[in-house]
Amino acid sequence: MPLTHISEPLTTMPNTINRTFSIAPMLDWTDRHYRYFARLMSSETLLYTEMVTTGAIIHGKGDYLAYNQEEHPLALQLGGSNATDLATCAKIAAERGYDEVNLNVGCPSDRVQSGRFGACLMAEPQLVAECVDAMRSVVDIPVTVKTRIGIDEQDSYEFLTQFIDKVATAGCDTFIIHARKAWLQGLSPKENREIPELDYERVYQLKRDYPKLSISINGGVKTLAECASHLEQLDGVMVGREAYQNPYILAQVDQLLCGSDRPVLSRDAVLEKMIPYMEKHLQQGGRLNHITRHITGLYQGEVGSRAWRRYLSENAHRQGAGIEVIHQARESMTLK
Ligand SMILES: Cc1cc2nc3c(=O)[nH]c(=O)nc-3n(C[C@H](O)[C@H](O)[C@H](O)COP(=O)(O)O)c2cc1C
Repeated sequence: MPLTHISEPLTTMPNTINRTFSIAPMLDWTDRHYRYFARLMSSETLLYTEMVTTGAIIHGKGDYLAYNQEEHPLALQLGGSNATDLATCAKIAAERGYDEVNLNVGCPSDRVQSGRFGACLMAEPQLVAECVDAMRSVVDIPVTVKTRIGIDEQDSYEFLTQFIDKVATAGCDTFIIHARKAWLQGLSPKENREIPELDYERVYQLKRDYPKLSISINGGVKTLAECASHLEQLDGVMVGREAYQNPYILAQVDQLLCGSDRPVLSRDAVLEKMIPYMEKHLQQGGRLNHITRHITGLYQGEVGSRAWRRYLSENAHRQGAGIEVIHQARESMTLK
């Protein structure tokens, strides 16, 4: 599908979503239960779903778009490269109340490449532009792109700016950049999150050269102090693994990064707020471990955190496991 129009020039800072701090889309990790848990700790954080493919939304049997109202602001990440399908899914996302649609141009897995989407799309900026254009023409919510700084040998700054130029011309004014390139062959997705070197300076350079675009950085960020330092140069920071494995860092995001004077919840207060949610899930026939797997990191760094983790992993999956498992896991932290 050719680009039929060039969207209006970018004269103002884009959209009103607070992008200061966001949690990365993570397959199998950032499901609706994790997102509810994260939201208890931070009102300001922008949450992303796991990547959902256009095929799953259009042809799948399940409801891949269900979420809890408390999760807003919430972005749906789409995987795909067919402009018509992406537009269909963006429209559904907007109708379902999502606050943003994000296109995955960063995932290097083989499965994703064989579907011709994810990171390999960096080599096809015209196609990405067409996809963005198609989505923007059917929704009012922001359409954003998450990408890398390069792929394979195509890792020059010029390669990155050619990509950004093309996609920005189609009206995308918000990019989230994972500050390392991806090797499309030979590395697993996990290795592709560790082995290619991080290059934060390249992302800073991008912001200096495109001051009107909203640029968020992603990759390897572990502390809110690092976030604050990135925010001196950029519009936003997206955190993935640390926000999942050590989720309690979220408890101070609003205060330290977003100027909120909301009180910081204790870990126990967060757990307490999670209990009614877990009870409801159990009443609806859900299993306890579908939620507990996301909260095992809550006490990370605290005395007894290993006992907490172990108790949950040994007991929450059992048939009939109820809320008492949570209380017992908490008690196990103080037993000698
Ligand atoms: C388990 C897991 C699943 C991921 N799934 C996705 C995904 O669905 N879409 C995506 O764009 N990135 C995905 N990523 C990559 C993250 O969004 C992020 O770019 C990467 O982990 C680097 O950020 P971090 O160093 O803060 O973790 C995933 C990462 C992990 C660890």
